[in-house]
Amino acid sequence: MYECPNPTIRVVDSASIALLCGVFVLFLRSSDSDTVYEFSDVKYFHYDRNVDDPYGVYNWPKTFSRECNGQQQSPVNIETGSLSVDEFASCPTMVYNSPVVQGTLINNGHSAEFLFYPGDLAAYNIPHRYGMYIAHDFHVHYGGLFESTTFDNQISPGSEHTVNGYRYDGELHIVMYNSRYGSIEEAEHHADGLAVLAFFIHKQPDSLDFGNRNMHFSIFLGSNLPYIANINFSISTSLNLDVFRRQPCEFYTYSGSTTTPLCNQAVQWVIFREPLLVSRSAWSAIQLLEFTGDYDNRYGNFRVLQPLNGRVVESNFVPTF
Ligand SMILES: *[C@@H]1O[C@H](CO)[C@@H](O)[C@H](O)[C@H]1NC(C)=O
Ligand SMILES: [Zn+2]
Repeated sequence: MYECPNPTIRVVDSASIALLCGVFVLFLRSSDSDTVYEFSDVKYFHYDRNVDDPYGVYNWPKTFSRECNGQQQSPVNIETGSLSVDEFASCPTMVYNSPVVQGTLINNGHSAEFLFYPGDLAAYNIPHRYGMYIAHDFHVHYGGLFESTTFDNQISPGSEHTVNGYRYDGELHIVMYNSRYGSIEEAEHHADGLAVLAFFIHKQPDSLDFGNRNMHFSIFLGSNLPYIANINFSISTSLNLDVFRRQPCEFYTYSGSTTTPLCNQAVQWVIFREPLLVSRSAWSAIQLLEFTGDYDNRYGNFRVLQPLNGRVVESNFVPTF
C-alpha cells in the first residue's frame, strides 16, 4: 500500500488523495427528487444561517438531500433528566495493534480531518449494534469567531451536541463503518451502517495540569493545525489513541444521522461524558483553518440542534446533575 510521504506538506486534490491514501470519494445519490442543485456539489455545503444561501444549513434538505429533514437527525440536546439509564450496558471496545497510528490530517474545507489507514482502529460492543466497526476518520467541530472582536480573539463554543443546553467548546467525532459493508460510502446507505464515537472538547487555561493524555492531544492540534490552514492542505502525522481511553467508560447513546449532508440516518451515536481537555493556546490554532463559504469564520462548523421526535437518549451511568 502506498504510504503518504512523511513529513512533508502537500497541496492535493481529493481525487489524488483517494488514490494515494485510500480515502473515499463521496458516492452521491441521485434518487431524491426536487433537487435544485447537482448532488455533485455536496462538498460545497456551508454552515451559514443565511436563508438565501442555497448551500447554507437551512437549505441542506432542498439542495443536498431530503433526509436532512428526516425524523432522526443529529445533533440533539441531551436532557439528563430524561435519559433512559442502563448501568449494565457494555462499553464500546476499541481494537488496535499499536496505540500510535499514522494518518493524513487534511483541511477538507469543513474541518480538520484525520484519515486512518484501514485496519488501524476498529471497535465492537457498539450499543444496539452487532459486529465490528472500522474507523474511517476523526474530525472536530467548533465555534466561529465572535462577531465582536473584543473577547480575546477566541472562538465561541461549538460542540454539536449539547447537554442540558450547555454547549462545549468543541466536539471530536471518530466516524466508523460496519465491517459487513465494504466501504463507508456503501455503509452510509444502511440503517446499521455507521457509528460515531464522540468526545466533547473543553478548553483549559494553559497553566493547568490536565494530564498526559490530554496534553498529547493539545500538542497534536497545536503542532499540526498551522500546516493545514488552507483548504486542501494536508500533512502526514501520528496520534496516540490513548487520548480516547475513558475510565470509567460513561456515555450517552442514541440513533441519529450524520451531521453533514447527506444527513444519512445511519448513525448510532456514542457520546462520552468525560471531555477531552485542550489548552487554550492549542485550541486557538483551530481558528487558523480556512472554511468553504465562510471566509471570516463567523459560524464555525456545528449544525443547529435537531428535534428528538420521540427518540430516547440512553446512558450507562446515573447523571449527577
Ligand atoms: C480543493 O480540492 C477540490 C477537489 O479537487 C477542488 O474542487 C477545490 O477547488 C479545491 N479547493 C481549493 C480552495 O483549492
Ligand atoms: Zn462530525
